Amino acid sequence: MTIEFRDVHASYDENIPILKGVSFTVNDGEFVAFVGTNGAGKSTTMRLMNGLLKPESGEVLVDGVPTTQLKTSELARRVGFLFQNPDSQICCNSVREELLFGFRALGALDEEAERRVDDIIAEFNFNPNDDPFLLNRGTRQLLALASTIVVAPPVIVLDEPTTGLDFRECVKVMDIIRHLHEQGTTVIMVCHDMEVVADFAERVIVMSDGRAVDQGPTFEVLRNRHTLRQASLVPPQIVDISLGLSLMRPDLGSSLVACANTLNEMEAAVAAAAGRPEAARSKPTYATTAPGAEDAFEEGGVR
Ligand SMILES: Nc1ncnc2c1ncn2[C@@H]1O[C@H](COP(=O)(O)OP(=O)(O)OP(=O)(O)O)[C@@H](O)[C@H]1O
Ligand SMILES: [Mg+2]
Repeated sequence: MTIEFRDVHASYDENIPILKGVSFTVNDGEFVAFVGTNGAGKSTTMRLMNGLLKPESGEVLVDGVPTTQLKTSELARRVGFLFQNPDSQICCNSVREELLFGFRALGALDEEAERRVDDIIAEFNFNPNDDPFLLNRGTRQLLALASTIVVAPPVIVLDEPTTGLDFRECVKVMDIIRHLHEQGTTVIMVCHDMEVVADFAERVIVMSDGRAVDQGPTFEVLRNRHTLRQASLVPPQIVDISLGLSLMRPDLGSSLVACANTLNEMEAAVAAAAGRPEAARSKPTYATTAPGAEDAFEEGGVR
């Protein structure tokens, strides 16, 4: 299922334009992250995808159909939505009721729905009788996410799903999202954490002052100095290191920055620059040191 914005203008008050001509396409099965400073218009863009807000001009198309021609329930079946604040969407007195709510709203409460809710309760290790409002912040966020995904929409829009979570909770939430994406769900996520963006998103759309100012493959966007400056982004560590190294060794600069897609590629570039290509060995992406890479740094005089 695709989502397309065509020159979308939107506002909450007609005198104050918020989105000033936003265009992009998210293709079926993609994982796209929206990044940018506070107030750039990211949440507003998300609200246009589930019809909470309609464009003043331009079009928002879901699988080619303008959102203005879709009923709220038709849109809800296609696009699941996780609000920036989980408390905006929690409304029932028990965890189980909360998880059934989406099916009720869609008029699809049947045995299959009950089974899916029981499965997700087991998967997330929820207590079905807990009062959602008495849960801690991380568990409320997980409940809001579970309520979004339990109805299995083909597209999920997640507005800052990891903000306010500790590292363990963040890993849990992102594991769930990664799993959904691997199963074919289209994921659109607003995120301020560039490490999370770098680890998960295939493509990034950068927003600034109501406009999409850059978009492209994640690392192509996140190593673009102009974009980083324009949207006040703190790049992921791997890009930061490569940009720093490129300043120290301008002769190697562009090749180091161009290799900043993964730590593996980066170390291979440094080792090759130091005349020791064999020093960079293949290893899991999350490992932070490669045996021998330190020697390449020392002996090659990159430092
Ligand atoms: N309900 C609303 N009524 C009026 N103005 C709003 C409303 N929601 C957002 N705005 C304004 O629209 C602009 C864009 O806000 P939006 O929430 O889309 O930004 P954002 O990029 O999601 O920011 P953040 O990173 O802080 O969540 C801001 O100037 C904000 O004050
Ligand atoms: Mg927001």
